[in-house]
Amino acid sequence: YLNYRVPQTRRDIFQTLIKGLQRLEYRGYDSAGVAVDGSGKDHAASISLYKKTGKVKALDEEIYKNNSIDFEAELDTHFGIAHTRWATHGEPSPLNSHPHRSDKNNEFVVIHNGIITNYKELKKYLVSKGYDFESDTDTEVIPKLIKYLYDNRENDYVSFSTLVERVIQQLEGAFALVFKSIHFPGEAVATRRGSPLLIGVRSQYELSTEQIPVQYNCSKSSSRHPYFSSTYTSPQTCSAPQDVCEHSNTTRILHVIYLEDDDIAVVVEGKLYVHRIKRTAGEDPVRVIQTLQMELQQIMKGNFKAFMQKEIFEQPESVVNTMRGRICFDSNTVILGGLSDHLKEIKRCRRLIVIGCGTSYHAGVATRQILEELTELPVMVELASDFLDRITPVFRDDVCFFISQSGETADTLMALRYCKQRGALTVGVTNTVGSSICRETDCGVHINAGPEVGVASTKAYTSQFVSLIMFGLMMSEDRLSMQQRRLEIINGLKKLPELIKEVLALDDQIKSIADELHHQRSLLVMGRGYNYATCLEGALKIKEITYMHSEGILAGELKHGPLALIDKHMPVIMVIMRDACYKKCHNALEQVTARQGRPIILCCQDDPEISKMAYKTIELPHTVDCLQGIISVIPLQLISFHLAVLRGYDVDFPRNLAKSVTVE
Ligand code: F6R
Repeated sequence: YLNYRVPQTRRDIFQTLIKGLQRLEYRGYDSAGVAVDGSGKDHAASISLYKKTGKVKALDEEIYKNNSIDFEAELDTHFGIAHTRWATHGEPSPLNSHPHRSDKNNEFVVIHNGIITNYKELKKYLVSKGYDFESDTDTEVIPKLIKYLYDNRENDYVSFSTLVERVIQQLEGAFALVFKSIHFPGEAVATRRGSPLLIGVRSQYELSTEQIPVQYNCSKSSSRHPYFSSTYTSPQTCSAPQDVCEHSNTTRILHVIYLEDDDIAVVVEGKLYVHRIKRTAGEDPVRVIQTLQMELQQIMKGNFKAFMQKEIFEQPESVVNTMRGRICFDSNTVILGGLSDHLKEIKRCRRLIVIGCGTSYHAGVATRQILEELTELPVMVELASDFLDRITPVFRDDVCFFISQSGETADTLMALRYCKQRGALTVGVTNTVGSSICRETDCGVHINAGPEVGVASTKAYTSQFVSLIMFGLMMSEDRLSMQQRRLEIINGLKKLPELIKEVLALDDQIKSIADELHHQRSLLVMGRGYNYATCLEGALKIKEITYMHSEGILAGELKHGPLALIDKHMPVIMVIMRDACYKKCHNALEQVTARQGRPIILCCQDDPEISKMAYKTIELPHTVDCLQGIISVIPLQLISFHLAVLRGYDVDFPRNLAKSVTVE
């Protein structure tokens, strides 16, 4: 956060930093910290650090009870940095929180998002040179390294950006970094590789040229724009201070620059410079200022207890937003504009590979069968981490889909780069405009579900599901033999919002089931065919926010092991819908009841046969087989939400998890 020309009190500065952190808190929240200019006349000649374990609120309280801070002091120029941490190396503690420092005088301080993979070697070297480390983190090598380079500089004059340039030449891994130093008062230097980093541009200044030239081999050159800089990782819940945003009652508009890997952005005396060490062929010589707009009500909780609950209840609208302008219900045509130019190439491909993590992976599992049917292509669905571990063969005539709500998940991003290197066509399916996956794929689909704040993904799943189905429909448009099937699915999509509303109306009944289950330690979720993914996704929701053990089990595998878990005490949810697997699911149900299991069954309305074997039923509206998973996952989202509330957990902030996992 850098601010020139507008005098501010130290209180304002803290408030801006803390508010920004609070907006980003859902992404990682085991500790937080800020670094601001010190007190006294020459305030930028020292740096004060405040860090605290726990939520941002704890840091805020810590700062305000500190009597030595002069909150009313007015400052003309100030640069402060702030960070919320989600531990990867070293337990949550004040020492392990960011900003990290070079030494006890805080000569250089750094905040970091990402992971430094060669930190052990760097640390060994720096320790041998006499630098003391105080944390268990990978990040701490960075401030130590920059101080080492500063202490050993050849000339008296060395610019801040040159030092940062030299630092990143030594780093391996992924990083978005912001540096502050007492040797370069008021100057901000930021850089990235692999992790996202944006610069927010103060909007009340005239933006006559909507791009920033990239400088090469230079550390001083002027840009005409006065800047106010802020970094944040998502345009959806941006942490930008109030005055970077144009506000109306309902909308927020932001001007931002997305930095590319190895860009070094420097703000000196209110001017922004972006430069790179060397020019590479074909690279864009400018960074464009982009405008982002968002509806304020989209990021407010309203009357709901948690963002997750709000997002579950938004699904009748979010699926409509996913389909809007893409499906013509009169002509039964589907057009995904982002894929149109590549459709011919996709149709000629050897196979489709769908890659994601967690819930996004489940969206691939859920739609695999219908994609195979509609595209008549082999479809592989892969967990990004495992796909990379296996060094999976990928060919030029493969088409690889990358499913990601955030568009920033490191495993998925790495898999994307891996497939790109091998010449495959890459397609992004994301919910975040401008995210790394959006920008690095050849083409893609925005799922348009609106901001998803709850760490447990809900509406993004159903929108990813709908997007992949639309892709299948688009691919099969000219297949005569498939017209009947396509029509059935398109009609099903049209009715989807109403059916989702019907399921949401069962909330009280679902809550009463959660009332009964919330003391249990385990909960199995079983099904097969189109609803196997529903079971995996339901079990993931349950484990991540209720901390109960939960497993999604393929009913076809029951006899091969999981049946041993069944007795009258083990709670089991079964998903048995009227589709091609109905009979087989019925068999599984008999196996469960024969072992005195007492299944809670998600089934279709009016299925007396199933109802009489169930301990309890949740009756759901029936739709086309391949869309049924959108309907049947909702009761499981609701059960997990109610279980978490009943067990006293913070639904939107499950322990140990973060919304966007930008480390491998
Ligand atoms: C679970 C959940 C995670 C994410 C996973 C991938 O509720 O949210 O499993 O689905 O971390 O994240 P994205 O979709 O952002 O790539």
